[in-house]
Amino acid sequence: MLVKPVFFALDGKTLQEFNFYLDKLKGEIYGVKVGLELFISEGPSVIEQLKKKGWIVFLDLKLHDITNTVKEATISASNLGVDYLTIHIASGSEALIEANKSKKGDLKILGVSSALTSKTMGKDLQAKVSSEFLLASKCKIDGVICPPSELEKASQQFKLLVTPGIRFENESSNDQKNVTTPKNAIERGSTFLVMGRSIRNNLNYFLNEFEL
Ligand code: C5P
Repeated sequence: MLVKPVFFALDGKTLQEFNFYLDKLKGEIYGVKVGLELFISEGPSVIEQLKKKGWIVFLDLKLHDITNTVKEATISASNLGVDYLTIHIASGSEALIEANKSKKGDLKILGVSSALTSKTMGKDLQAKVSSEFLLASKCKIDGVICPPSELEKASQQFKLLVTPGIRFENESSNDQKNVTTPKNAIERGSTFLVMGRSIRNNLNYFLNEFEL
C-alpha cells in the first residue's frame, strides 16, 4: 500500500487524544503536524514522543520575529529532531537566509505567506503572496505552505509545496476559505497535504476507500 502524501494535523491540547488516530494512520500517511495549540499545551516533549514512535514531524509554529530569534529557534527545532518547520516570510530575507544556514540534520524550512487558508483570496492578497513567494525563492528555502489558489504559480518556483485547506467533496469547509480536494491539490502541484478535520471526520473512508 502506498503511503499517502499527507501530514495529519494534531490540532488539540493533548497528544493522548490523538493516539487512536495515530495507531490507525501509522504506515498510511507521511507525517504529523504539531501546531501552536498542541505545542503550547504539551511542550517540546510532544516532539520527542512522536519521534520515538517513528513519525516525521512538522512543527508549525509560523515563526515571525527578528533574525536572531528566528535563527536560534530554528537551531532549537533542529536539536529537537523536527523534520519540517514553518517561518513567516514576512520575517524578512535575512531571517530566512540565517535560519537556512543554521538548520541542522534533516530539517526543512517552509515559508508561510500572508495568505492563511482561512482568508478570502483577493487581488491585493494575491499580489502580496506573489512578492512573498518571490522573496522566499530568492532566499532558497526548501519550500512553502501554499494555499490551493496559488499552486500553479508556486509550483514553478518551489519543489516542495505543502497545502492546507483540504476537504473532501461535499464536506463543510468550516473556517477555511481557500479550499480544494486532495486530488485537485496533488494534480496541481502540491507535494504534501495538511489534513486535520477531514481525516478525523472521515477516518474509515480515508483509510479504506480513498486513494491518492
Ligand atoms: O482541520 P483542517 O484540515 O482545516 O486543519 C488545517 C491545519 O493547517 C491547521 O492545523 C491549521 O493551523 C493549518 N494551516 C492552515 N492554513 C495555513 C497554514 C496552516 O489551515 N495557511
